[in-house]
Amino acid sequence: MTLVVDNKWGSEDRSGPRHVAIIMDGNGRWAAERRLPRVEGHRKGVETVRQIVEASKELGVVHLTLFSFSSENWARPKQEIHDLFGLLRRFVRRDLAELHKNGVRIRVIGSRTDLDGDILRMLDDAVDLTKDNTALNLTIAFNYGARDEIVRAGRRLAEAARRGDLAPEDVTEERFASFLDTGGLPDPDLLIRTSGELRLSNFLLWQLAYAEFVFVDTYWPDFDKTHYEAAIAEFQRRNRRFGGRTARSTA
Ligand code: IPE
Ligand code: IPE
Ligand code: MG
Repeated sequence: MTLVVDNKWGSEDRSGPRHVAIIMDGNGRWAAERRLPRVEGHRKGVETVRQIVEASKELGVVHLTLFSFSSENWARPKQEIHDLFGLLRRFVRRDLAELHKNGVRIRVIGSRTDLDGDILRMLDDAVDLTKDNTALNLTIAFNYGARDEIVRAGRRLAEAARRGDLAPEDVTEERFASFLDTGGLPDPDLLIRTSGELRLSNFLLWQLAYAEFVFVDTYWPDFDKTHYEAAIAEFQRRNRRFGGRTARSTA
């Protein structure tokens, strides 16, 4: 039997990604090329976040997950960390009302240890305020590292087992995933990394198992809706097989 498909890519499903995850990279190089301090790159990067959140709704993306500070970024100079935290504070302060008005639900993933009480409170309030919104699910990975997330999930699982709430044979993929920070969220369909770096840098190691990866050379501050659409178009040209056979294969 031959499966006939009437589009040139050979896959039946031409729909766009429901969940896009982005490693927003290249702020520092963007600034350096302009002989500006790095913080200017981060500042411009926040403007890109605004545009991409807006564009996501227009492009039919339901979940957008952004890597904004990694657990490894603590290795940066104190001043830069201070600037990045300041920008997050300002972003939430300035944009939360608008995001809420636009139906954006905010979630935060990452470790809570090492974060100041005032940042945690601010993030918790944003999550709480927007919890009933449904237009776009925006997940901010802040103080996030995938190995750390997996270890914390393992620890919670072990605690549940010790309490007697869970037997070893109850530990399935689904159950394990529900203990991750992303519990309840679908896996990303598309991962985009800007700035030409070809690595994951400890982002969503579990959840990206079957995502399509699109790496773009553009620095995050220059990334715009056109680049975003191009990445989505590239996704639509891919043939996702999930271990099976292509829609074109003959039997
Ligand atoms: C991404 O830009 C922002 C964060 C990692 C917080 P970078 O600051 O990593 O910029 P480059 O990679 O040095 O250009
Ligand atoms: C990944 O970018 C983290 C974020 C975008 C928040 P990095 O710039 O920190 O990654 P490496 O160090 O180049 O791998
Ligand atoms: Mg970088």
